[in-house]
Amino acid sequence: MKLKMDYNNALSERIGKDGIFKEQIDKLSAAVAKANTAMTVKRAAGKMAWRDLPYNQEGVVKEILDYVNQEKDGIDAFVVLGIGGSALGPSAVQQALNHPFWNELPREKRGGFPKLYVLDNVDPERLVYFFQTVDPTRCLYNVISKSGSTSETMSQFMIIQQLLEEKLGKEAAKRRIVCTTDAVSGNLITIAKAEGYKYFIIPSAVGGRFSEFTPVGLLPAAFCGIDIKGLLVGAAQMDELCKNEDIYKNPAHMYALLHYIAMNNGKNISVMMPYADSLKLISDWYAQLWAESLGKMYDLDGKVVNVGQTPVKALGVTDQHSQVQLYAEGPFDKIIVFLGVDEYRETITIPKTYSDMPSLGFLGGVTHNELIKTEQAATEYAVTKAGRMNISLTLPKVNAQTLGQLLYFFEVATAYAGELLNIDAFDQPGVEEGKNATYAMFGRPGYEDKKAELDAAPVKDRKYVI
Ligand code: PA5
Repeated sequence: MKLKMDYNNALSERIGKDGIFKEQIDKLSAAVAKANTAMTVKRAAGKMAWRDLPYNQEGVVKEILDYVNQEKDGIDAFVVLGIGGSALGPSAVQQALNHPFWNELPREKRGGFPKLYVLDNVDPERLVYFFQTVDPTRCLYNVISKSGSTSETMSQFMIIQQLLEEKLGKEAAKRRIVCTTDAVSGNLITIAKAEGYKYFIIPSAVGGRFSEFTPVGLLPAAFCGIDIKGLLVGAAQMDELCKNEDIYKNPAHMYALLHYIAMNNGKNISVMMPYADSLKLISDWYAQLWAESLGKMYDLDGKVVNVGQTPVKALGVTDQHSQVQLYAEGPFDKIIVFLGVDEYRETITIPKTYSDMPSLGFLGGVTHNELIKTEQAATEYAVTKAGRMNISLTLPKVNAQTLGQLLYFFEVATAYAGELLNIDAFDQPGVEEGKNATYAMFGRPGYEDKKAELDAAPVKDRKYVI
């Protein structure tokens, strides 16, 4: 039961001049060896703590499962308050592994587990409409923030804390809040301890977008009955594969190398196109991982490089009817990743209603499983014929184990691409800048210089506002 990568259609022998020549891969052997060493050295030095998560969380998993057993029957919904790396993973895993209409199912069809909501934005309409949808006092709120100070998440927390305390009283409200955060840094851990909230720790050396295998992802998943041990088993299986120093035997390293060569050939766009509704939000999770990790101004030597690749989210077959025209005939600026599934969890057959009409008759007796897979193969064929680089990743089935493999695969590929690009894949100074500007605009103490910088910025010219 293993994720499979097929990169035939990235190679020149299949797609012509715009593909990658095998010699190009072999010529990069020095860069590959350097990246291999960096990955090993950094891991040994504890700078890639996320790689140890499949192995070192037995105690955490037990604590999570005990907590779920203790709390799940007393709540209608489990609600994630988080953003970015503290929200995208929980949403993607839930969509991949549970029923697509989970929240609409009666409780017994959810195995007795609560509904799940992920409130990752501060659009004022979201919370107001949420409060109109559920009984907010019957929810357990998981405040997730690695830094413990992200404005969006902390603002949601403060609104909900006030609401719960008003409706339930301070003591009962405590049981409705669980925090997931760093053991030391930020306000959230201080608040959790002071208020007496249950909390789970994100290991300090694990960054937001690499935190899905910590309680950030494991706690919400466990509250929805997902096999979190299976997720970790899958991640460990992929870790074994990704230790191989031979690039031809290491799928994540090869994925990164192909994208690296593609970037150097002017392919600045990485399209992720799952052919499964269950994997749609994996594209969102991947988009953050790939964009925030690799989009950097400086390299590790301090040189301005402005590298990165813009992730584009697509869904097969839906986006065949919107984006594929561009992929086949537009600029040669993309590498497309088809994310497929060998065996879907359900089968549905098209009736032979109009067998006398040739343009419909061919569909009679065909399953949607055959239709979606055939359309994927046909789209791969079409873009390949048009000379467009594409790779296919295939899961034998979507389950906890294969999903663990897939998420871990992308994490390793991203880190390895960072090494090839000679950048720090684990920081996000561009995001910090926006956060700091927000603080300054609100007059937060300590941000006076930033406020002065903003005040000194040129004002917009009204003549360009129509
Ligand atoms: O990957 C990252 O570090 C970011 O996307 C963070 O996950 C995001 O900004 C939220 O941060 P925090 O978990 O500290 O609230």
